[in-house]
Amino acid sequence: MANQEENLKNIIAHAKEYGFVFPSSEIYDGLSAAYDYGPLGSELKNNIKQYWWKAMVQMNENIVGIDASIFMHPTTWKASGHTDAFNDPLIDNKDSKKRYRADVLVEEWVAKIEAKIDKEVTKAAKRFADSFDETQFRATNPRVLANQEKIDAANNRFKTAMEADDLDGVRQLIIDLDIADPVSGSRNWTDVRQFNLMFSTEMGAMADGASTIYLRPETAQGIFVNFLNVQKTARMKIPFGIAQIGKAFRNEIIARQFIFRMREFEQMEMQFFVRPGEEMKWYEYWKEARLKWHLTLGISEDKYKFHDHLKMAHYANAAADIEYNFPFGFKELEGIHSRTDFDLKQHEEYSGKKLQYFDPEINENYVPYVIETSLGLDRMFLAIISDAIRNEVLKDGSSRVVMAIPNFLAPYKAAIMPLTKKDGSPEKAREILNTLKMDFNCQYDEKDSIGKRYRRQDAIGTPISITIDHESLDDNTVTIRDRDTMEQERVSIDNLHSIITDKLRLK
Ligand code: GAP
Repeated sequence: MANQEENLKNIIAHAKEYGFVFPSSEIYDGLSAAYDYGPLGSELKNNIKQYWWKAMVQMNENIVGIDASIFMHPTTWKASGHTDAFNDPLIDNKDSKKRYRADVLVEEWVAKIEAKIDKEVTKAAKRFADSFDETQFRATNPRVLANQEKIDAANNRFKTAMEADDLDGVRQLIIDLDIADPVSGSRNWTDVRQFNLMFSTEMGAMADGASTIYLRPETAQGIFVNFLNVQKTARMKIPFGIAQIGKAFRNEIIARQFIFRMREFEQMEMQFFVRPGEEMKWYEYWKEARLKWHLTLGISEDKYKFHDHLKMAHYANAAADIEYNFPFGFKELEGIHSRTDFDLKQHEEYSGKKLQYFDPEINENYVPYVIETSLGLDRMFLAIISDAIRNEVLKDGSSRVVMAIPNFLAPYKAAIMPLTKKDGSPEKAREILNTLKMDFNCQYDEKDSIGKRYRRQDAIGTPISITIDHESLDDNTVTIRDRDTMEQERVSIDNLHSIITDKLRLK
């Protein structure tokens, strides 16, 4: 635990030192759960967005993109259920005065028991070596079975209580599971209350009869209300998807863990409209497709896992998270939800307008079912930087901090560095920069020793450093240095464009 905290602190410090992420309004001591992306952070964030957009919109013939407004007609949120049901159950500890989400307290209790099971399995695997059969062990070992029974019972009680809106039942479960405040150890809990997460504001001057509107808590509704506009204008045939990237706002009860849980954040969402009855096929399809997308980033597969939901959002009939092993453990990175025809039907009812599709193949009108993929851009950013930052001890005993960001996402693709500030090297370096900068974001850097410059580029994740020396003027060659291997190579200036292109190619 202490190690995890230390690790997260290092990531936050690194992100600030090199201009990736700053606390919001820091000169006023910051604003809780709001962050600003700095020069390198906004480059990385834009690159992640572009990569998602390319993979989801531009590489899929049957997906198109939109950019809907953040403000929507207030009835949108009545129809979608957010006004009444977008709540988190919260509980306070009377001694520590800390506030928690009741569902998170139960989830953390479950994770502890799961860890006990995993420990038993690891111990047994060591003891039985090659003859160990994990499936059989999990199905028969009495201690594993007893713990699994405890987990199932707790999950079932929680699900039943939440479905019945039985908040006393949720509190009783927390007491029966003997859950203590993680900060103070106290078990002195208040009642559980529901807390709506939407931010509201006024639109228009009071004299004009201002109305209360909401900052959207998800981008998805901008897609649902535009379903027919998009289907008709883009001439889409079911199955098809509508994607969008944009800000969402939630008044989170507990907002900590850096950019993992913010009150203002960005989502990359896609709603895939399908024929009723085919939703489970497409749900499985998108679960697999989205995991594959994550794996193309080159982050190790064991950092991801699926988590099937017990507590479903009010609109879903099946839901799973792609969880990522963040510095504070496995947590939700992306949600894949089967949203049925809930949203479109609700908007039909509240707007009085038909939101149906005529399917020429079966000669029928229907309200499509929807599979949604919803990825938090900021969480993706955190996943990438936390995987990338490495402290390496080198062969000569010295050390370096390197950010092994996937090359194609790196803020700068190449650093252009004249070895000295004289003898025409800077001019030659700028000449090279001018030939590359249209296609690649490059940084020109002539300050400090070459060793220091290499370290700086390592620390911000630049895949290639290009050094121009006095020979470059004579023989049109430069030295390139690879961020990851630190190997150096002499290459012709004429080949730089294709060398960088190759480095950025997604395998
Ligand atoms: N439209 C469905 C939806 O919004 P969600 O599971 O509530 O579903 C989707 O959110 C994704 O948005 C999450 O998987 C997460 O990556 C991101 N997200 C949600 N709340 C967030 C927050 N407070 N801060 C940062 N990212 C958040």
